[in-house]
Amino acid sequence: MLADIRKLAADAAHEGKGLGAFNIVMLEQAEVFADAAEAAGLPLVIQISQNAVKYHGGRLAPIAKAALAVAEAAKVPMVVHLDHAEDLDLCRQAVDLGITSIMYDGSHLPDDVNRATTAEITAWCHERGASVEAELGEVGGKNGVHDPSARTSPEDAAQFVADTGVDLLAVAVGSSHAMTTRGAVLDTELIAAIKAAVPVPLVLHGSSGVSDEGMRAAIESGMTKINVSTHLNVVFTAAVREFLAANEQVVDPRKYVQAGNVPVRAEVERLLRWYAGE
Ligand code: G3H
Ligand code: ZN
Repeated sequence: MLADIRKLAADAAHEGKGLGAFNIVMLEQAEVFADAAEAAGLPLVIQISQNAVKYHGGRLAPIAKAALAVAEAAKVPMVVHLDHAEDLDLCRQAVDLGITSIMYDGSHLPDDVNRATTAEITAWCHERGASVEAELGEVGGKNGVHDPSARTSPEDAAQFVADTGVDLLAVAVGSSHAMTTRGAVLDTELIAAIKAAVPVPLVLHGSSGVSDEGMRAAIESGMTKINVSTHLNVVFTAAVREFLAANEQVVDPRKYVQAGNVPVRAEVERLLRWYAGE
């Protein structure tokens, strides 16, 4: 069933749990993630990034409508979220299509511009019942270069939330996007300090680089929404590679996509349970 991310994140934060948020580029991933969430009996956020929309030739509607249909039919609470949107028109288009959770990413902009634009799109989304996540302190790795050095200051984070009215805040605490190994070291003291200063749930980007133990510590320190993409691509691609190497005659994509989906489903279920402290 479709749910409001504000409630899911508030509940998770209140219970000291993490809320899994996983990126899709294909419909099959939404189906696999939903199956995993149902098996775990836990809520889930399905994310479609601006980059994923670009992969679909700029077409948001087909993948968004498909993801919304999967979420609506699921037996657990689910949210479809527009991720890393830098284009305000795309944010508005997503809300018009029924997506209720938007990440406006102005973290690359000059600070005053990021604040003003985030406040503007947040007001627009709130008028239509949608929520907004923003990013302060740019989490590295978006350009393919691993860089975990950015840090968000707790005071700045509190002022940013007050200035913009955002519902969730992504912060830089030691992760970096697109890591294919899990050796990132998070600053749990900083997470706790930001959590104490900020009245909205915190979001971790670049979670693929964080070990299971590191993630448990981050959640215990106050991190709530856990964004994962690359790690699941690593799992999927390794299984597809192995399957195709062993089955050179196969041409039906259902066979090798399924070979990749099986371990992804298991890993999503495991991660959701882990984030929930199970
Ligand atoms: O917004 C999406 C996440 O930050 C995913 O990052 O690919 O490093 O897991 P990741
Ligand atoms: Zn991200």
